[in-house]
Amino acid sequence: MADTPSGTSMWGGRFADSTDEFVQQFTASIPFDHRLAQQDIRGSIAHATMLAEVGVLSESDKDAILEGLARLAAKVEQNDIQWSVALEDVHMNLEYQLTQDIGDAGKRLHTARSRNDQVATDVRLWTRDHIDLALSEIKRLMQGCIELAEQHADVIMPGFTHLQTAQPVTFGHHVLAWFEMLYRDATRLQDCRRRLNQSPLGAAALAGSPYPINRHRTAELLGFDAPCANSLDAVSDRDFAIEFCSVAATCMVHLSRMSEELVIWTSAQFGFVNLPDRFCTGSSIMPQKKNPDVPELVRGKSGRALGNLNAMLMLMKSQPLAYNKDNQEDKEPLFDSVETLINSLRAFADMVPHITPNADQMRAAAMKGYATATDLADYLVRTGLPFREAHEVVGNAVAIAVKEGVDLSELSIETLQSIHSAIQPDVYDVLSLEGSVNSRDHFGGTAPNQVRQAAEAAKQRAAAL
Ligand code: ARG
Repeated sequence: MADTPSGTSMWGGRFADSTDEFVQQFTASIPFDHRLAQQDIRGSIAHATMLAEVGVLSESDKDAILEGLARLAAKVEQNDIQWSVALEDVHMNLEYQLTQDIGDAGKRLHTARSRNDQVATDVRLWTRDHIDLALSEIKRLMQGCIELAEQHADVIMPGFTHLQTAQPVTFGHHVLAWFEMLYRDATRLQDCRRRLNQSPLGAAALAGSPYPINRHRTAELLGFDAPCANSLDAVSDRDFAIEFCSVAATCMVHLSRMSEELVIWTSAQFGFVNLPDRFCTGSSIMPQKKNPDVPELVRGKSGRALGNLNAMLMLMKSQPLAYNKDNQEDKEPLFDSVETLINSLRAFADMVPHITPNADQMRAAAMKGYATATDLADYLVRTGLPFREAHEVVGNAVAIAVKEGVDLSELSIETLQSIHSAIQPDVYDVLSLEGSVNSRDHFGGTAPNQVRQAAEAAKQRAAAL
């Protein structure tokens, strides 16, 4: 931060004493809100343009302001601005810089606006820009899931409930389950974008402005769908940021679940998949180690997103209308959630298409857990047995297989027939892993044929987002 420019307080008129130095630092937001600088400049460009159109600002002042703002944007881009804590926040810092550059015209820019509508506008624009970035990363990740699923539509693995082997599924089907979670997250991002895309500008401090402003025009210039309909609401609510943090938390929870599966699957005990070396690190003491750092870190980072959502909700809770200084606290959790989400999506989008399943290992695991027991019960039901009785019979078969240390498909036909006389040699068709997955051949089922169709549909749904 630069030294305090002396005598530059923009609201000091009614004050006899200057602000306590610590209070100045304590109340300043510039250490973090300088990240809104480009959005603040865009807002100012729209505001000045509109003020000139309605005759509140002269053409020459407007031209000077727009030229100055363009120079300022370039300086921000090059990181060439000395931010001052004495100027409190990004809005006053930029106005000060502009006025230093162009003189009195700079002082006219704040006509018919307040930092209250300014900051609400900036944060909306900033969030919108970053929703667009998050959307492009999540789409890349969704695409990666589709590719992986298509490549491995036939690979069979155990499906789990309670993390106990349940029924065989295909790896492609599992990866498309990830796709579905992400697809919903992407639509939630879009919903959030739609709802936030209204312009607070012109709400001024809280009650609107006595100048003949055109709020529809500034909304249009900034790419908003409309101006916010109520000036008090426009400057006070941060529900759009809460909503973003909620979407981010949900998506991070999804990524944490994918992460957890990858951590389990890459362990020596499972050995279901390999991650490319470039997404892992080794141990400084144990030479054999290859740690799944990216999934672990993303799993850990999901905690931040949940914490940030809580912070945002608590920040807003019980605030009376309209603007309160509390709202300055919206930025750090929001920025952190945005960064956490975008970086995690990016790491996953880079990694997921390069996951390689170990089909032999998955098959061996599926063979171990009597994954086709339900298939045997269904077979017996088709011979006329009520499901409850079939369940009991198969329980006996599993007990025998456990005792003999073999899979159900490895029991002899004599043994199976001794368990139930209706069993015929064609039972082996359903006891095989392939027979089991192929039989679940309906919309949303795990059969390889369905997985390929689902991947095709997923491509189209993702493209239509
Ligand atoms: N830095 C403030 C914020 O982040 C800007 C608005 C301040 N408005 C005010 N009247 N103090 O919310």
